[in-house]
Amino acid sequence: MKVSFIQLAPVLGDVQATIRRIDRLIHRCEITDILVLPELCNSGYNFDSYEQAWETSEEVESSTFVRYLKSKCRQFNLYIVAGFNERDNGHLYNSAILIGPKGYIGKYRKLHLFMNERDYFEPGNVGLPVFDIGLCKIGMLVCFDWIFPEVWRILALKGAEIICHPSNLILPGFAQKAVPIHALINRVYIVTANRIGTEGDLSFTGLSTIANPKGEILLQASQEEEEVGIKSIDITMARDKMITHRNDLFGDRRPGEYALLTEDIVKD
Ligand code: ACM
Repeated sequence: MKVSFIQLAPVLGDVQATIRRIDRLIHRCEITDILVLPELCNSGYNFDSYEQAWETSEEVESSTFVRYLKSKCRQFNLYIVAGFNERDNGHLYNSAILIGPKGYIGKYRKLHLFMNERDYFEPGNVGLPVFDIGLCKIGMLVCFDWIFPEVWRILALKGAEIICHPSNLILPGFAQKAVPIHALINRVYIVTANRIGTEGDLSFTGLSTIANPKGEILLQASQEEEEVGIKSIDITMARDKMITHRNDLFGDRRPGEYALLTEDIVKD
C-alpha cells in the first residue's frame, strides 16, 4: 500500500482558497491509499480572536471542506485524514477527521492544546479512537500531541498500525526528531503532514515526515516548499511487535510499575 501527505499553507479564513491549493496537488495522490493533510486545514491556525476561530470553524455535517474531501475520496478511492476546525454544540475542537471512499468515518479531537489554542478550543473529549479501514488500522494525533509518549503508546496498544499526524509545527525541528522515535518504540508507521509559511508572528517548520516501524525516515519534505510526499509501505512490519525472538514489545511491558502515568501531578 501507499501513503502520502500534502505539505502546504492553508489560507487563514478562506476555505475556498485552501481547497484550490489542495486541488492543484491532490490528483498526484490518486495512486495512494491514505493521504494526510495538515492541522486546522479548513481554517488556518493563528487566529486573532475567538470570533475569527468561531467564524472559520465548521460542523462536520455541513462543512464545505468535508464535502470537497468526500468527493476526492470517492473519485480516487482514497482515505484522507485532515486537520479540522470543528464546531459542535457551541464548542470548538482542534480535530482530525477520517474520510473514505464511502464518506465520513470518524474523528479525533486534540487532547493537548498548544499556546493560544487554549483560548479557542476545548480539549479533546473523544479519547483515542482507532479505525479499521480494512487495509490497516488508523490512529490519529494532532501536532503538539507529539510530545506525549503516552498517546502514541495507547494508539499502538489499541492496534493502530499507521498513526496519521496533521500538524502546524512551530518549535524548530523537535517533533521531526521525535516522530521516527515514536515509530520505532511503538513499531508503527507515522505520517506527519506539517504546514509551511507564516501567519502573523508564527512560522511553521515543514519537514513533513513518513517514518517506519524501524524508526527510519522514509521520506521528509523540505522546510519551506509546497510538496506532495508519497511512499510505499509494508504494513505487516507494523504488526510484528517482536524486538528479539524473546522480547515482545507489548508482552514485556510492566504496567504494574506504571501507575504514576495515570495520576495527576499537582504543580506547586
Ligand atoms: C501545535 O500544536 N500546533 C504546535
